[in-house]
Amino acid sequence: MAVLRLGDVAPDFTAQTSQGEINFHEWLGDSWGVLFSHPADYTPVCTTELGTVAKYSDEFTKRNVKVVALSVDGVDSHMGWIADINETQDTEVNFPIIADEDRKVSDLYDMIHPNADNTLTVRSVFIIGSDKKIKLIIVYPASTGRNFDEIIRVIDSLQLTAYRKLATPANWKHGDDCVVSPAVKTEDIPELFPKGHKVIKPYLRTTPMPD
Ligand code: BEZ
Repeated sequence: MAVLRLGDVAPDFTAQTSQGEINFHEWLGDSWGVLFSHPADYTPVCTTELGTVAKYSDEFTKRNVKVVALSVDGVDSHMGWIADINETQDTEVNFPIIADEDRKVSDLYDMIHPNADNTLTVRSVFIIGSDKKIKLIIVYPASTGRNFDEIIRVIDSLQLTAYRKLATPANWKHGDDCVVSPAVKTEDIPELFPKGHKVIKPYLRTTPMPD
């Protein structure tokens, strides 16, 4: 298993899921992707997480992002648990959950951290760009449910900065001012960012978020 780093191509795989077999790269197509693992089916924190992701379905779709979950349980287990999630979280899980019983995908993405747990996956999140490259990796322990507002916020930042010479400052959220990339000369800012800019220090220039 190679160490995965930002900028690497997300490893491709074929796997069984709650929505049939998928080939990951084919399934992604031209979309961005979120691949996230959870420790096990029929567990309380995971139940709330998957319910939350289902409720955010429109948010992911409007950002051209496909979402896929993973645990080391099988398809039958996933199907029964999805019914529970739909019932208890008042939603409809409409994304696939990978049934990684042989740990093939978990190993490929280093989702099992033996010093945390020998067999169950930790809560990993991979955000993958439309170029199939890994844009973000976050790892949470089993006891901490993820904040999916943060995942959406990062997607907004990644998509905004992917094609513009911008970065986003601490606690940035959609609509806030952005930071102009250090590679841009101050005299070139007006042409690149016509909404205006502020020079707070020569190395710290901000501009309103472009439309
Ligand atoms: C949970 O999803 O609730 C959970 C799973 C494994 C360990 C602790 C909590």
